[in-house]
Amino acid sequence: MAGKKFQTPKGTRDILPEEQKYWVEIERVLKQTAGLFGYERIDLPIFEETDLFQRGVGETTDIVEKEMYTFPDRSGTSMTLRPEFTAGIVRAYVQHGMASWPKPVKLWSTGPIFRYERPQAGRYRQFTQFNVEAVGELDPALDFEMMSLAWQIYDRLGFKNLHFQLNSIGCKQCRPNYLDRLSEYYRKHFGAICTDCQKRLDRNPLRLLDCKQAQCQPVIESAPSIHEHLCPECSEHFETLQSHLKHAGLSCQLNSRMVRGLDYYTKTVFEVWAEGIGSQNAVCGGGRYDGLIELLGGSPTPAVGFASGLERISLVMQEQKTAVPEIPSPSVYIIVLGKEPGLRGVTILNELRSRNISGIMGLGGKSFKAQMREADKRLVNHVLILGEDELAREEIILKNMRDGEQKTISIQNMMTELSAR
Ligand code: HAM
Repeated sequence: MAGKKFQTPKGTRDILPEEQKYWVEIERVLKQTAGLFGYERIDLPIFEETDLFQRGVGETTDIVEKEMYTFPDRSGTSMTLRPEFTAGIVRAYVQHGMASWPKPVKLWSTGPIFRYERPQAGRYRQFTQFNVEAVGELDPALDFEMMSLAWQIYDRLGFKNLHFQLNSIGCKQCRPNYLDRLSEYYRKHFGAICTDCQKRLDRNPLRLLDCKQAQCQPVIESAPSIHEHLCPECSEHFETLQSHLKHAGLSCQLNSRMVRGLDYYTKTVFEVWAEGIGSQNAVCGGGRYDGLIELLGGSPTPAVGFASGLERISLVMQEQKTAVPEIPSPSVYIIVLGKEPGLRGVTILNELRSRNISGIMGLGGKSFKAQMREADKRLVNHVLILGEDELAREEIILKNMRDGEQKTISIQNMMTELSAR
C-alpha cells in the first residue's frame, strides 16, 4: 500500500527556508526595538486553563465562543491553546507578585497563537504574535509609548503608508451609559440588522459597531458615537494621548466604530492598518485594559499593550518588496573525488567548522560536475577540491568562486588562509 501523503492542517503553514530571511529580520527588529523602549522578555506556556481565557478575553467574544482549541488533559482539566498573550501575562503578573516590581512592569513575548478562524490570506489558525504589555501606570504617555513602539518597529522594517486607527471606548463609569443609548438606538432598527447583530444587542452591544455585514453599515453609520459619552477622565486621557501623537507626527485617524474583538479594553484602543493585506487585516492591535488585573485576581491595576502578527508583517514586507539581508550561505564546499579523499574530506570539514568556517561537502560519491553544480547553487565563496593526487601530497585545490582564481596549496595552509579571511 502506498504511503499516505500528509498536508499541513487547514489554516496552518510551513515557513520554508526561502521566507526565513524576512523572519530573521523581523525578529531582529522586534527584539532590538523592544529593548530600546526598556521592555524585558517573558516566555509563557502555550496552553493555560480554559477558565483564564473565558474570564480574561470574555465569554461573549468570537474568540471564546467559536475559536479556541480546547481539550481536557488526562486529568480531566480543561486546557486551551493560547488564543492571545494578554490574559497569560496578567496571570503571570499576579502569580509572581509583579505588583511589587518597579512600575510600569514592561514585558514582551513572542510565540505561536491558536484561533479556529476561517482561513484566508493573512488569517491563519496557528500564527505568531509579538506581544508587548506595560502594567501599572495610567498615564496616557504610556499609551503613546505603546503606539510609538509599534510605529518604530514598522518604520524600521520599511513599511510604507503607515497610519493608526484610534478610538476610546470609555471605562466602567461611562460605558454603561453609552451602551444604553446604543441599545436604545439599535432597538429602533432591529428589523434592519443581521441576525448576529440581533443577538449581539443583548449579549455584547459594543460589538454591534464592528459588524462587517453590508445590511448593518447604514445603521452603524448613524449610531450614536461614544466620543460624546466619555466621562471627563476618559475624555482628558483621550485628548492628552492625541496631543502626544500629534507632537510626534504619528499619522492617526479617529475611528469611533473600532471597538476590537476582546472584552477587556478600557479607554484607548488602536490598530495599525498597512498596505498590502486589506483593511480587515490589521498588522497590529492593542489598547488599555485597566480592569483585567483585578478581574484575574490582582488588585486594581491599569495596563496597556498591543500585539502584532508576524505572518502579516512578513506578508506586507513581501508585498511591498522590502529589501532584507540574505541569510548567509555556507562559505566553503569541499568537492571530494574518490574513497580516501571522501574520508579525509569529513575530517577537513569538521576542522573548518570548529574554526567557525561554515561549510558543506559532496556526499555519496557524486561526479565532479554534479558537486560543482551543487556548490554553484549553494552560492559558496570557496570550493576546495580534493582528489587522490592532491591527498597524496597533503595538498588541496582552493578556488575562489567570486573571482574564479584557483591555486593548489597545502591542507594546513588552506586552513590558516581560510581562517584569516
Ligand atoms: P488581536 O487584535 O486579536 O489582539 O491580535 C493582534 C494581532 O495578531 C492582529 O493585529 C494580527 O496582526 C494578528 N492576528 C490576529 N489574528 C490572526 C490570525 N488569525 N492570523 C494571523 N494573524 C492574526 C490581541 O491578541 C490582543 N491580545 C493584543 C493586546 C495586547 N492588547 C493589549 N495587549
